[in-house]
Amino acid sequence: MKVLITGISGFAGSHLAEYLLEKDIEVMGTIRWRSPRENIKHLLSKVNLYDCDLKDLSAVDALIEETKPDMIFHLAAQSFVPSSWRFPAETINNNIISELNIFEAVRKARLKTRIQIAGSSEEYGFVKESEVPVKESQPLRPLSPYAVSKVAQDMLGYQYFKSYGLNIIRTRAFNHTGPRRGEVFVVSNFAKQIVEIEKGLKPPVIKVGNLSAIRDFTDVRDTVKAYYSILLKGNPGDVYNIATGKGHNISEVLDMLLSLTDTDITVERDPQRLRPSDVEILIGDASKMKKLTDWRAEIPFKKTLLDTLDYWRERI
Ligand code: GDD
Repeated sequence: MKVLITGISGFAGSHLAEYLLEKDIEVMGTIRWRSPRENIKHLLSKVNLYDCDLKDLSAVDALIEETKPDMIFHLAAQSFVPSSWRFPAETINNNIISELNIFEAVRKARLKTRIQIAGSSEEYGFVKESEVPVKESQPLRPLSPYAVSKVAQDMLGYQYFKSYGLNIIRTRAFNHTGPRRGEVFVVSNFAKQIVEIEKGLKPPVIKVGNLSAIRDFTDVRDTVKAYYSILLKGNPGDVYNIATGKGHNISEVLDMLLSLTDTDITVERDPQRLRPSDVEILIGDASKMKKLTDWRAEIPFKKTLLDTLDYWRERI
């Protein structure tokens, strides 16, 4: 089996590549010439990389013609919510056009490729406490340009399945974290600040944003297993949540991280880290995908936090 991962050098992409290689699957990936390769440096001899700007249709046509993948995991995206307020047009353009180009290329090449679309729990956006854990039937009320881009990706996946019979499986992953997570995302950011303080590189003050938000965190190593299981066993045209069903508020996450260091650290609210509209609560119900697969989130959250701290301890 030949698998193509868009965004292979990113956070989820690198973990997915590692997992598929363990299964002796042939792994190909797209990368931009300017993308850092740090996350996949240990995999470079085992994967085939294609330098491809997914926003360029002729480049994507050529990529699909050459690789003819059995499966595509479409993970490449602008994925940081605050950047989508700073660069809304770029986020919308990048996330939607890249996906459209993949659909068009697969459609024109008349391939039976199974395509996973990495949607997000951010699509649910404004959720009332009485509505959690949310199922896939929950109304979509996106609260950021990023979330709108993911709703559009999701709907295009549905439309290309209905219109052309493309084998598209849509996933809505809730937050995932772990080693290699970009330093802007909450767990990785707090972990990196703690390690910088441990190493005496900054004063013992950790800067934080909105601590009252609640998120459902899966370890990325579990999330990528879910992606593979559901792409194998899911029904084309359908959409599946990937979640643990358990919420943690961000202040609890901060306390858990602080309990994993011996250093005394004080907490300071940084107004720059607040968002024009934050999603206050996201907890997911993944029973739909669990009925079709034997996937279960296995890695305890405390281990995820510890591994993320250790990742930064090794690097800084
Ligand atoms: N990044 C960040 N930095 N977030 C903070 C901070 C901080 O210093 N302090 C508090 N938070 C809060 C945010 O306001 C948000 O409520 C929560 O922590 C999580 O923030 P992020 O880690 O930036 O993730 P996200 O929930 O906005 O989005 C992530 O999860 C989505 C799935 O639900 C991203 O990975 C998205 O790409 C993904 O789709």
